[in-house]
Amino acid sequence: MIFARDKTKPRAGTEDTRMDQMTDSASIRRNFGLWQRPPANQEPASPVASLPRFAVDATDDPGDFPGAPGARGDDQIARARVVLADMLAASQPAMASSRFAGRREAFQNLISAIEQQRAHVVLYGDRGIGKTSLIHVFAEAARDAQYLFFYGSCGVESRFDEMFRAFLAEIPLLYHASISPTADENEHSRSFADLLGDQRLDPRQLAGLLSEVVGTRIIFVLDEYDRVADIEFRRDIAELIKNLSDRAARVQLVLTGVGSNLDELIGFTPSIRRNIVGIPLGPMPDSEIMEILERAETASGIIFSTDAKGQIVRMAAGSPYYARLLGGRAAGRALDAGRMEITEHDVTAGTEAVLAEWNAGLPRRVQATLARPEVRAAWPVLIAASRLTGTPDEWFSAADIAAETGRAPQEIDRLLTGFTGEINLFERSAPVITGPAPAPAAAVVAPEPRFRFRTQGVAQLLGLSAALARAGK
Ligand SMILES: Nc1ncnc2c1ncn2[C@@H]1O[C@H](COP(=O)(O)OP(=O)(O)OP(=O)(O)O)[C@@H](O)[C@H]1O
Ligand SMILES: [Mg+2]
Repeated sequence: MIFARDKTKPRAGTEDTRMDQMTDSASIRRNFGLWQRPPANQEPASPVASLPRFAVDATDDPGDFPGAPGARGDDQIARARVVLADMLAASQPAMASSRFAGRREAFQNLISAIEQQRAHVVLYGDRGIGKTSLIHVFAEAARDAQYLFFYGSCGVESRFDEMFRAFLAEIPLLYHASISPTADENEHSRSFADLLGDQRLDPRQLAGLLSEVVGTRIIFVLDEYDRVADIEFRRDIAELIKNLSDRAARVQLVLTGVGSNLDELIGFTPSIRRNIVGIPLGPMPDSEIMEILERAETASGIIFSTDAKGQIVRMAAGSPYYARLLGGRAAGRALDAGRMEITEHDVTAGTEAVLAEWNAGLPRRVQATLARPEVRAAWPVLIAASRLTGTPDEWFSAADIAAETGRAPQEIDRLLTGFTGEINLFERSAPVITGPAPAPAAAVVAPEPRFRFRTQGVAQLLGLSAALARAGK
């Protein structure tokens, strides 16, 4: 379709000419609102000038700002923005030890499990508790100690064959027992993947190949293992762990994922229990949450007031994700206002802005439901439910919530069931099988009905609004 051009509007690039001809015309004044002819020596304002701009360039580095870190004024603010984008970005794992706070015990346990116990490791904990960050910083330490370290992130579609072929392609053949260290040039460019045929890679064959590794040790990390839906993949991993252990291969696996216990993540697999060390990652102590904020202060030059820090620590309740999210938003508000000091008010206003965004991201029907008086009246129960929901599809029972709130299970059951029909906040399921694949035989059959939030994001919203209420106390 061809649109006829609005003749009252200038064609791009022709404004000057048209304005020169028609400056005094009444119609042009109407059409261009407050537009005034600029003085002869001044360019007309670009329409882009009034739109928001990026505060710093993508190429900017903290060191680029004059006098850093003692810079003053705009430079100081711009530098703080660049630094905080690294130190307090909640959407990214802490990729380097300089941005990583606390977790010394878990770190030590991870090293001991690999180095002394020669075990395979399962690292598990709630969403956003810091599993991927710990793994990235652990990778630094392992590479420093000359381990070959490989990181893979699992997805619903992950395939055993594909994932390990990709890893093998990165392992130089020089580490194979059959290759002499003085081998010729040709051997330098080859990898373990060159020893594979076209047939599907199975765990026994892979363990056989990996048991030939000499001259180094290898760590494979499979992050987000909870997302693997393929039962066969999980079975193959268990088989690989068993075979690597039996052959005392110089190769260890680290599986990480969301779960509140070991079984939840790897299912019931007695054959490999002896070969695995489980490392739980729980909430961070307040002192470590404080360390996240203090590192951001030291690196960027901003200062959180004592009250602001206290408020963030209370709201975070051990979650490094919340510490970064709320700290980062509060700092962003202060910097926008040209201040390097962050007050309690910035923290509250920043948190309210996050809540408003999250709420706006929910379907309208759910937003309306959350505002209903009967739902508001049940807020403490809903918040307890949100605390019990580590993953969006996690089920909980009325008894779980009764234990959290000190109310009778029957009362909770009635209340939650009342929110399943027209209100439709929860899904209710009569005895359900819990525990992930691959071992249905080992799954636990829950004797009572279970519930879960129907809409993703509601539990998260409730969690943060509870945190804000907590901080106000
Ligand atoms: N020790 C830490 N020091 C500083 N920041 C941390 C630390 N641990 C985690 N964070 C921050 O918390 C947030 C969540 O961390 P991370 O992504 O590592 O969690 P996760 O457990 O892997 O989450 P998920 O379950 O979603 O995969 C990120 O913003 C990360 O930068
Ligand atoms: Mg992660």
